[in-house]
Amino acid sequence: MIVCRTKAELKEQLQNLRLAGKTIGFVPTMGYLHEGHASLLRRAKEENTAAVLSVFVNPMQFGPNEDLDRYPRDEERDLGLASQCGVDIVFMPSVSEMYPSAPLTAVVVHKVTEQLCGASRPGHFDGVGLVVSKLLHLVNPNKAYFGMKDAQQVAVITQMVIDLDFPVEIVPCSIVREPDGLALSSRNVYLTPLQREQAVILSQTLKLADQWIKEPQLTVQSLVGRAQEHILQASEAIIDYVELLTFPELTRLEDDIRVSEIEQPLILACAVKFGSTRLIDNTILDKMEV
Ligand code: PAJ
Repeated sequence: MIVCRTKAELKEQLQNLRLAGKTIGFVPTMGYLHEGHASLLRRAKEENTAAVLSVFVNPMQFGPNEDLDRYPRDEERDLGLASQCGVDIVFMPSVSEMYPSAPLTAVVVHKVTEQLCGASRPGHFDGVGLVVSKLLHLVNPNKAYFGMKDAQQVAVITQMVIDLDFPVEIVPCSIVREPDGLALSSRNVYLTPLQREQAVILSQTLKLADQWIKEPQLTVQSLVGRAQEHILQASEAIIDYVELLTFPELTRLEDDIRVSEIEQPLILACAVKFGSTRLIDNTILDKMEV
């Protein structure tokens, strides 16, 4: 496994891979890797002949009062896990390597960024769009792997790649969870033992919603209301949003429509704060299993 810290080194190493006729599967991350990231890396390696990982905590996607400074980092552990997953190249640039000067170009995806995290974290997806554009240009992979844990990110990047003709296939990957259901996240380390115990309420609620939608009379408003009520059983939980939208368009639905009458695939997504830690989770609801 080769570690590159500059764009020039990365370019040289990628040239070698391409000369050897390899296809490239790319997994962009912000590091502090866990089994969720590992599942993307393994899939990238399985479906391509080489896997490239990037580890870069992108300042452009953090708001002024967010956790950029305390975002967890562990380079050594990340390299160990990457090597176990069969990664060929790790790109670990510094902030000044990625952004030698303040960028004057914006990558803004409209509409799919107007709700959920796009609404509660203004500018977040502009930062994601910019860094993922740069990384896709630098790595030029055949396929790039993104987790459905960040379903809105998948929708945004898929749209960006279509609109800007990036020659890459975006591959959405399923959410990896702890045995009790909590979606793996680098931010889970911030949780106190009590918050960790209560955080399971997110996945529990989403699982219950999968049952609730089988009630033919259930409206959008009552589904969202029930989900909110269930989450608030956890004393430490502060809801940022709970929303039911179409997926991947992420369009809003009228409150009084019956869920059973909606034909498009639906996503139930939530963001909930436990203390200062904000967790997100979602499920694509399956109405077909009635
Ligand atoms: P990060 O939060 O490190 O996540 C990197 C990738 O891992 C994302 O595609 C994310 O959806 C996926 N992932 C995280 N937890 C997961 C889980 N429990 N199951 C499956 N996949 C999971 O997302 C980012 O970084 C950044 O926004 C990035 C795309 C790197 C741009 O800076």
